[in-house]
Amino acid sequence: MPAEQPAAAKTDTLPKVQSTNATSNAEVTDRCSSTSDVAVQKQLRSPYTDLLCNPLKPKIISFHNVSAAAYRIKESVMRTPCTLSHISEIAGMEIYFKKEYLQYTGSFKERGVSYTLLMLPEDKRRRGVITASARNHALALSYQGSKMDIPVTVVMPSNSPIMIVQQCKVYGAQVVIRGDNLSEAKDYAMALVSQRNLTYINGHDHPDIIAGHGTVGLEIVEQVDDVDAIIVPIGGGGLIAGTVVAVKAMRPEITVIGVEPERCPCFTEALKAGRPVYTDISTSLADGLAVPSVGVNAFATSAKLVDKVVKVSEEMIAIAILRLVEMEKAIVEGAGAAGLAAILAGLLPELKGKRVVVPLCGGNIDTTVLGRCLERGLAVDGRLVKFSVTVSDRPGGISDLTRFVSDIGVSMKDIIHERAWLKRDVFSVQVKVVAETRDREHAVLLEKLLRERYEQVTFNMAAD
Ligand SMILES: Cc1ncc(COP(=O)(O)O)c(C=O)c1O
Repeated sequence: MPAEQPAAAKTDTLPKVQSTNATSNAEVTDRCSSTSDVAVQKQLRSPYTDLLCNPLKPKIISFHNVSAAAYRIKESVMRTPCTLSHISEIAGMEIYFKKEYLQYTGSFKERGVSYTLLMLPEDKRRRGVITASARNHALALSYQGSKMDIPVTVVMPSNSPIMIVQQCKVYGAQVVIRGDNLSEAKDYAMALVSQRNLTYINGHDHPDIIAGHGTVGLEIVEQVDDVDAIIVPIGGGGLIAGTVVAVKAMRPEITVIGVEPERCPCFTEALKAGRPVYTDISTSLADGLAVPSVGVNAFATSAKLVDKVVKVSEEMIAIAILRLVEMEKAIVEGAGAAGLAAILAGLLPELKGKRVVVPLCGGNIDTTVLGRCLERGLAVDGRLVKFSVTVSDRPGGISDLTRFVSDIGVSMKDIIHERAWLKRDVFSVQVKVVAETRDREHAVLLEKLLRERYEQVTFNMAAD
């Protein structure tokens, strides 16, 4: 059954927000701030509510909804491969990756978006849709909307990644930069809903979004025989809700495990409280999962079906991103790598020897963030270390150190030397080095040999 759309609440007139297709971010932000008149402020104090995501009347999505979605979206969304990974060997279990990062806009979000847009009646399609999102949902809505000739407005907070803002514009969406965070952007989007008679599409809790996302679960069961467990990252809960409904209806014996960052545990907190609750979150490498409250429909649909939820550290997310690059040749964002992070962190020992499917849900990672993740991952692995050594300032002092280090098979990445700050001895120089080792044992050996040879050594290696 298609989810019924609420009528827009009657509100005051908002100033017109300019289309941003041909403008820069700075221009867009300026224009929006200049619209901060009484009407906008009034609306932002009593924002329109999304009646499809009503805490008093949560909707439970059924297997029928997910299978209807699978039928409707088969032409518009890719059936991604689900293949055995080399990482199986180091993890001690048979790991299959469902490669959702291969979708056109780089994430599974196109599934729910495509189904939701296809289910909209003609008049709503003509008027257009709106959402607040800084990431994958914004991209998916912009792209699928343009394919179906549906006008799309995306309200994005000012800290949204530039790459995503630009890409939404390339897909033809009207981008409005508004608010310092997603919640402020959403309030503004809600105000525009009433002003322009648009349809708001919640990225993790609209019932058709959840049904569409559930097609990931249907495909996994079709693609891999005898699956023991599926590990699903949780942000607002739409993906796990659709997936668990599909999987448990077809194969109730499959274990479905949710993963969220330690810094954003909104599903864990909702389970404790018995309902979605506002949760304090902090920034995470898995920014797609940084949602302060799980969706009401998502929670009502999945809370009783999900077998277990675990929380992963930032270090393990970085390691998972690194392993995926090195061993799977896959560029996956933090949110998409969270399932693997849970396995590598040893949080799921009961899955040893089992057949486990991990959706790699998205690949939209900023290149600078990717670089930092890889370095962080190498450091946590003990493969990137930092040390400083005080050596003689006489000719040969520094070259002696570099030769010594290279003889151990360690590669220097950065080296600087300082004289001015050494108080004790004007004939010494302090050399600071960042170096790459084979593994943690190699780093431990390096530290031991440096300490045997030099009197003053400080050595930094990330803890296990
Ligand atoms: C790459 C990626 N994985 C997983 C999720 C979690 O999905 P949900 O918010 O439906 O729980 C998101 C959410 O944005 C995401 O972008």
